[in-house]
Amino acid sequence: MPPESHVVTISRFLIDEERKYPEATGAFTSLLSDIALAAKVIGREVNKAGLVDIFGAVGHENVHGEDQQKLDVFANQVMYRALDHTGLVACLASEESEELISIPAKFPAGEYVVIYDPLDGSSNIDVNVSIGTIFSIHRKITSGARGTLEDCLQPGSRQVAAGYILYGSSTMLVYTSGTGVHGFTLDPSIGEFILSHPDMRMPEPPKKVYSVNEAYFTRWSRGQQLLVSHLKNEGGFGSRYIGSMVADVHRTLLQGGLFMYPPERAQPEGKLRLLYEAAPMAMIIEQAGGRASTGTQDINDITPTGLHQRVPIYMGSKEFVALSEEMLAAE
Ligand code: AHG
Ligand code: MN
Ligand code: MN
Repeated sequence: MPPESHVVTISRFLIDEERKYPEATGAFTSLLSDIALAAKVIGREVNKAGLVDIFGAVGHENVHGEDQQKLDVFANQVMYRALDHTGLVACLASEESEELISIPAKFPAGEYVVIYDPLDGSSNIDVNVSIGTIFSIHRKITSGARGTLEDCLQPGSRQVAAGYILYGSSTMLVYTSGTGVHGFTLDPSIGEFILSHPDMRMPEPPKKVYSVNEAYFTRWSRGQQLLVSHLKNEGGFGSRYIGSMVADVHRTLLQGGLFMYPPERAQPEGKLRLLYEAAPMAMIIEQAGGRASTGTQDINDITPTGLHQRVPIYMGSKEFVALSEEMLAAE
């Protein structure tokens, strides 16, 4: 344990960052603090999931036709309630809500658009495997007082910040605001996120690990099949797949490797959503020195056409993403 004066809480870190920009109003710092608070509340319930009978489908499906778990509903509400009244947010969008979420008229609206996947990897809840929350922040670009769909449908390259919370063996918050990636670990004894991973960079050389649901092998294109066969045979890669994007990408960030959610013949756009999952995780990976591609273009170059659009994902160490693009193009 470092001496106490070296313990940097997330609040102190955010304030120190804010001081570097004399024009900063403090709004962004406040917004991230609100998200960190929501993360602690969600994390507390996630940690209790085995103690109380909180898991199990709540009885209706989300907009993607998937069973919604109770914790998804809870996490969705916590994110909304942490952000709706602050006067910092123009509008919200959640993976669990079909439409854009407006700020209620009784509250002032602000300049930031917050897009989130409140609970990622929710099928892992009832088996006590890591899950996460993902967030993406844009600045409002339209001139009206309140945010609109147009404000949400901005390419990932215009995100002002992105991050995730991993509810793993410890709870971690990892974020970037475009000047590196910083990771904080929750100290449950004091309820504070403490800076544990300053300026995270993907390791060079990277660990040779690919991460994909290989059970779908027969549904893949020939190029995708050849890519994975090459990685494990000639490439000498190992494989790790948790089935929670946040956890799989977090490992990829720390160790290097390649995370994929490829297109399938019957589902050419893949499964994962551009706005809630792909774009924010792509910004983090890029900020840490990696790359994120659909196989044919950088994920964060895409201008979204809908809130729930899906994209194929190849993200991780630069050289492995480049190899994927090459092998997919060759077929
Ligand atoms: P969500 O729980 O938010 O719907 O996300 C599900 C995810 C993602 O975390 C993971 O990478 C992927 O679905 C796993 O899908 P498969 O079960 O098809 O491998
Ligand atoms: Mn998800
Ligand atoms: Mn989700």
